[in-house]
Amino acid sequence: MNIERFDNEDALASTLAARLIEAISLKPRLVLGLPTGRTPVALYREVRSRSQRGHVDWSQVRTFNLDEFAGLGGGDAGSYRAYMQAELFDHVRMEPLNVGMLDGRAADLAAECARYERAIDQAGGIDIQVLGIGANGHIGFNEPADALEAETHVAALQAATRAANAGWFGGDVARVPTHALSMGMATILHAREIVLMATGEEKAAAVAGMIDGPITTRLPASLLQVHSRVTVMLDRGAALRLA
Ligand code: PGA
Repeated sequence: MNIERFDNEDALASTLAARLIEAISLKPRLVLGLPTGRTPVALYREVRSRSQRGHVDWSQVRTFNLDEFAGLGGGDAGSYRAYMQAELFDHVRMEPLNVGMLDGRAADLAAECARYERAIDQAGGIDIQVLGIGANGHIGFNEPADALEAETHVAALQAATRAANAGWFGGDVARVPTHALSMGMATILHAREIVLMATGEEKAAAVAGMIDGPITTRLPASLLQVHSRVTVMLDRGAALRLA
């Protein structure tokens, strides 16, 4: 893993935004895998402002988001679709058909997961998958467990993950959905390149386990050790427990 340390989250976000925009200019049909959550807010702010300032041609870029809450879709506050519209899609000139998101309101969630895998394949696979990491070491909604799912699937959320997401639901954990649709570990590991960003001391233990610990399904991010092109971008807090 290639580890990069930054003084603060703004420096990290600005570096990654510049790299993603450079990647779009080198490959206009870039396929990006995208995360939601608190960590990438600064990244999307930087991507928006750089896209507005300079000429960035988003017209052929395709994106696939990592996950979505079961039962929620566009128009639902708290959905990752709503987050992505507000943080990125409403501000760049992407073709709506080039936006890949799981539909948490699909009548048949298993079929929706299978459709998503096919759509990623048909796009030629993900070029750059951007990830956050949960304090428990999850990526996407691949939670610590004795076994992990390979492909896009319906996942039950752990209590800690629901609590961490309560902020998107008015602080009320009871309103956080109990299930989500998520890319699986193989979906993520098939990306040609992976960039994981982590900020804040509350991520330091998971980050240290991911980089220096054993590969274990109990810390799903540790599986990234088997991928040959992973960059881990950390602020000071997230890097605190590194050897
Ligand atoms: P966060 O979530 O950015 O809101 O901390 C990261 C994650 O759970 O993957």
